[in-house]
Amino acid sequence: MIREVLARVGFIRFLLLAAIPLAAQSPSASGYTGSEVCRTCHPAVWLNFPKNPHFPPLAAAQPAESAGCESCHGPGKAHVEARGGKATIVAFSVLPPEKILDNCLRCHGQKLSRANIRRSQHTQSDVVCTNCHSIHRSPVPKYLLARVQRDLCYTCHANVRAQFNMPVKHRVNEGVMQCSDCHNPHGAFAPTWRMAARPRLVDQGLANEQPCLVCHSDKRGPFVFEHASVRVDGCESCHAPHGSMNARLLKRPVVFTLCLECHNGAPGFGRSGNGVPTQSPSHNMADPRYQNCTTCHVRIHGSNADSRFLR
Ligand code: HEC
Ligand code: HEC
Ligand code: HEC
Ligand code: HEC
Ligand code: HEC
Ligand code: HEC
Ligand code: HEC
Ligand code: HEC
Ligand code: HEC
Ligand code: HEC
Repeated sequence: MIREVLARVGFIRFLLLAAIPLAAQSPSASGYTGSEVCRTCHPAVWLNFPKNPHFPPLAAAQPAESAGCESCHGPGKAHVEARGGKATIVAFSVLPPEKILDNCLRCHGQKLSRANIRRSQHTQSDVVCTNCHSIHRSPVPKYLLARVQRDLCYTCHANVRAQFNMPVKHRVNEGVMQCSDCHNPHGAFAPTWRMAARPRLVDQGLANEQPCLVCHSDKRGPFVFEHASVRVDGCESCHAPHGSMNARLLKRPVVFTLCLECHNGAPGFGRSGNGVPTQSPSHNMADPRYQNCTTCHVRIHGSNADSRFLR
């Protein structure tokens, strides 16, 4: 009986509200109903929500706009009174990408601040939070990803899968490593170790260094004698980071062809043109033993003992 009356009052209020243009409704007229009422019509989402990492912090949060379902979907009163509809609530299925971003960043702006989210290649291509995260139907328990990370990235970057299937590779497809060991999908800051180049969302390790050094710490240095290509151009000037046909993930099958891309005496500044010294005449390039430069220049990533990286 009481419910019927309430429902009728609700219906009358709905009619009244519907008569007032949206703009005229005061936003301060609370408009929040609490999450309990959502259960009636969205039982599946509601019953699942206590398992969501958002539940503990948002369940009893204050004020109302930071609590429960309405913390993301906005005030629900009008929606409830209209008995549904996408126009009466923040419905992500019809929100434009930039609005989705704003909605999530209201709370996550701080924590994701290490990420250059607004200027990332993903954001600029309208790939936003809900393309990668699924709040209510995530099949993976961690980070609410829409799919297992590897498969998530491959849905849009299918060509990369083949690179990780090459004979020499980082074992991403095998599950040993993840894309996010080297990339920050939320965006990396531009002034990294490759000042002018597109950063390709390659993450920074500590102190802006290349993410590779987190695992390959023996290459970190600093060395008394740095190989400028390692320090300045970065690991990918010689290595293909995903996978390669060549040993040691090298970009070229024969080591000397790699070295001669720079050590070639091309015109420009410095001792022999482009500033990169060519090998001295003692190097007999007709002799096959000179073709594998790193049999002698063994400390190719940098040395503390020898300026030519011979030991
Ligand atoms: C952290 C933000 C957030 C919270 C909190 C939240 N939602 Fe959602 N909701 C979303 C997003 C984002 C979508 C779009 C689909 C997706 O990404 O899962 C969505 C989609 C929906 C949908 C439509 C699609 C579907 O999966 O059925 C309903 C209904 C819904 N939410 C209801 C609720 C209810 C009820 C609650 C509280 C129990 C709630 N939401 C709490 C973010 C949230
Ligand atoms: C009286 C039933 C009813 C109640 C109560 C109700 N909803 Fe809905 N809601 C609906 C219906 C029906 C739709 C589907 C509208 C459509 O598909 O056009 C809907 C759609 C939505 C959507 C949009 C889903 C999308 O496609 O993006 C969201 C979000 C949502 N509801 C959240 C909530 C929240 C949060 C509450 C609690 C504050 C709530 N609803 C309470 C009936 C209800
Ligand atoms: C291109 C895909 C992609 C987009 C777009 C994306 N994320 Fe993520 N997000 C991920 C992946 C992958 C992880 C897991 C990273 C890991 O395992 O280290 C993650 C982790 C997170 C985490 C937990 C770890 C952390 O960094 O705090 C939060 C919170 C998060 N994302 C929020 C967001 C928000 C908010 C947005 C939109 C502003 C967003 N994400 C956009 C892919 C994405
Ligand atoms: C009202 C504030 C609020 C809003 C809005 C919000 N979140 Fe969250 N989110 C949180 C809090 C609080 C946590 C828990 C943080 C923690 O445990 O450190 C969280 C956790 C997460 C996590 C990490 C889950 C995990 O497993 O650690 C992801 C991913 C995430 N949110 C994505 C989103 C996305 C995508 C949106 C937009 C649809 C969104 N959030 C909107 C407050 C919010
Ligand atoms: C919904 C589709 C989508 C998903 C999912 C997605 N991306 Fe992207 N990604 C794009 C688009 C679109 C671009 C920008 C266009 C381009 O440069 O290819 C991009 C750009 C990139 C770039 C820079 C490419 C360049 O040439 O500079 C990297 C790196 C990248 N994504 C990695 C990832 C990783 C890692 C994941 C998984 C966590 C992921 N992406 C998930 C669509 C997606
Ligand atoms: C071992 C570190 C590492 C891992 C793991 C890794 N990447 Fe990369 N990725 C890089 C680096 C470094 C570059 C930049 C290469 C360059 O600029 O020459 C790059 C470039 C890219 C690019 C742009 C260039 C291209 O080849 O299209 C995309 C897209 C990309 N990665 C996606 C992914 C995806 C998706 C995953 C996971 C399946 C992944 N990466 C895993 C290090 C990595
Ligand atoms: C999460 C840790 C991790 C990160 C980050 C990482 N690697 Fe590796 N790397 C490995 C492991 C483990 C191996 C051993 C090969 C395997 O997994 O089978 C390896 C192998 C290699 C090899 C040798 C392959 C061979 O045939 O011996 C090279 C070269 C290499 N990585 C370069 C890089 C570069 C360049 C980056 C950054 C773009 C990078 N790595 C980032 C873990 C990592
Ligand atoms: C100037 C070209 C060049 C650059 C730049 C370079 N490498 Fe290498 N790297 C090589 C060569 C050549 C080999 C093979 C050495 C051999 O076979 O003896 C190698 C081998 C490796 C190996 C496998 C053998 C070993 O020494 O552990 C790893 C791991 C590696 N590099 C990581 C890196 C990382 C990480 C970076 C960036 C910090 C980097 N490389 C930058 C040329 C380079
Ligand atoms: C991306 C360009 C690049 C590549 C590839 C490269 N180098 Fe270098 N290398 C340099 C630069 C730049 C210097 C520093 C020149 C200077 O300080 O005057 C240098 C310095 C050297 C030196 C020390 C020369 C001296 O007199 O101080 C040796 C030895 C050397 N490289 C060997 C190699 C070998 C062997 C390879 C192949 C495995 C190689 N480099 C690949 C750019 C490169
Ligand atoms: C058999 C051992 C050996 C091999 C193989 C070798 N080098 Fe050297 N390299 C040396 C020695 C010893 C020196 C220092 C004395 C000299 O200049 O002859 C040197 C010096 C250099 C220098 C510095 C020259 C200068 O003027 O300061 C460069 C650059 C260089 N090597 C590049 C290469 C490249 C590139 C390859 C492969 C095509 C290579 N080396 C193969 C032994 C070798």
